[in-house]
Formats: sequence, C-alpha cells, structure tokens
Amino acid sequence: MAFPTHRPRRLRSSPAMRRLVQEATLAPSQFILPLFVCEGEGVRKEIGSMPGNAQLSIDNLVGEAEECKRLGLGGLILFGIPETKDESASQAYADEGIVQRAVRAVKQEVPGLLVITDVCNCEYTSHGHCGVVRNDDVDNDPTLDWLAKTAVSHTRAGADIVAPSDMMDGRVAAIRKALDQSGFANTPILSYAAKYASVFYGPFREAAESTPQFGDRRTYQMDPANAREAIREITLDLEEGADMIMIKPAMPYLDIIRTARELFDVSIGAYQVSGEFSMIVAAAEKGWLDLDRTILESLTSIRRAGADFTLTYFAKRAAQLMA
Ligand code: PBG
Repeated sequence: MAFPTHRPRRLRSSPAMRRLVQEATLAPSQFILPLFVCEGEGVRKEIGSMPGNAQLSIDNLVGEAEECKRLGLGGLILFGIPETKDESASQAYADEGIVQRAVRAVKQEVPGLLVITDVCNCEYTSHGHCGVVRNDDVDNDPTLDWLAKTAVSHTRAGADIVAPSDMMDGRVAAIRKALDQSGFANTPILSYAAKYASVFYGPFREAAESTPQFGDRRTYQMDPANAREAIREITLDLEEGADMIMIKPAMPYLDIIRTARELFDVSIGAYQVSGEFSMIVAAAEKGWLDLDRTILESLTSIRRAGADFTLTYFAKRAAQLMA
C-alpha cells in the first residue's frame, strides 16, 4: 500500500536535499582532544599503538592547545605522565605535579580554550591501579581522599572541568564537597559515570604508562555485559552532584548512550577511546577503510546515539574535515 505513494529515496536525491533532512550534525565544538603531558622540554614521544599521538612536554602541549583553539574544538582533556610513581600516587595531587603545571601553562598561553582534567590515580601509582591497594584490591574509601585532593589541585591550577575516571563509589560526592569547601563551587564535574572494563583501553595504557602491574580493573570498572547497571551508576553520580556524565567506550556502547539520552536530561559525553581510534587507523593503514570517511561516520554514529560531545583522538582531523 505504501509503495508507490511513498518513496523515501526522494529525499536522498541530491546533496542539497540530503543536507536539508540530515538529523545528526557534527561541529568542531563537540570534540574534545585527549592529550598526554610529560616532563622535559621539546619532548614529542610518539605512541606506537596510537599513530599521530604523542607524549608532549608542556612547551609542545601549549602548541597543540593553540591548534585546538584555532580549529574551534570544544576543548582538551589532559592526562599526565609523572616522572616518579609511588604507592600513594603523590604526584596526582601535588601542586607542582605535571598536570597542574600543564594546566597553568595552557590557561595562561591559550586563554578561552576549555581545559578538562582527568582525575585518576592509575598513571601515578607504582602498581598502576586507580587507588589505594589493600589485599590485592583497590580500597574504595581511602581512595576518595586522593581523588578529592587531585580535583582541588587541578581546579586551583585553573582547570575548567574535572573529570573523575576512577570508578570508585562516592567519588563525585567527595569531589563536590572538597571543591565547595575550597571555594570552587562553580567548577563542574564531568563524571565518567558508565565506564566499562574494556579491552579497548589497551593503547591508552601504553600512552599513559598505566597498565596495572597485577590483576585487572574489573572490581571497579563495569562489566561489559551490563546495561541496567549503567543506569544505576549514572543515577548515583547525578545524585552525588555530577553536572555532566560520560559513557566510555563509545562505539561498542552506543546502546548505553541512547538509553542515557532518553532517561537523563543532562549533557552527555562519549569517549571514543584509544582502541577505537587505533583499530580504525590500522584498517586505514592497510587500505581496508577510508580514514576520513570512517572518522566522520564513527563520530556521526556516536552523535546520533545521543552524545552531546565526544572525546576523540580524531578531534583535530574531524574539525579539519569540517572546515
Ligand atoms: C584512567 C583512564 C583510562 C582511560 C581514560 N582514563 C584508562 C583505564 O581506565 O585503564 C582510557 C582512555 C582510552 O583508552 O583512550 N583510569
């Protein structure tokens, strides 16, 4: 009955027609570029499993930040590689820590660019876990103190948004309280609310030198099999005071993004993680996928699922493609 009256192809007949009826759109302001900052000067240490990405010393980081601003990106998110790691992650919350100094430099040299900091301990502990280790597991409550101190020190350095990625219970409340008590009531928390224990973080752990020395992260990050649990995690984080939430990884978890979009009226970020990046780049290097089209389609699918913004290692390339 519908056919021949209805012919959906009519609205696909030309680029102009397709543009008119396009639902999900991309813009550079939706992209956040993750960057890795390390000690030294003039350092640009390529990350083997993430072609085009590097550990950058602060001077080179500032150059990258300028480019992010010029391209109109939404901002950047910083990860630190400290010179020394210890049992108590002391460099995570040191006022002269690598991220704290990097934030100060970027905020001073590139005004107007949004700087988010990742709040976690795994890059700073000698064992590579995201918190205080006791009896071969991460002890939740004492870890909250480290996270709160880290968030406050990042904010004091000038971070616009703090983003806890550790998956400890109660960390959003602990961070909110500490920020408020330190005079930072206006600093938003972007919580990695639904973060799965994913194999797709593999290349990142090379980049951030944060592979756990024993065991894995399954006692704190979520089981990839669980969708309802994501709703519970997001609900709790919002109750604790999260201003925005993130879902991570992105492409293998589009169903979670979609469900969150339908249930929560908050800004939702998605993290197209290192493994998603690397597998696309690898396929393109083999000539099996067209890189630029894959970038745009993957980012469009994340947007269509319901993400307001996406953390992606393709942020600069995507913005260039849109120019
Ligand atoms: C820190 C953290 C990780 C990522 C972001 N923050 C690694 C992990 O949980 O092991 C992964 C990002 C990526 O893979 O691009 N906890």
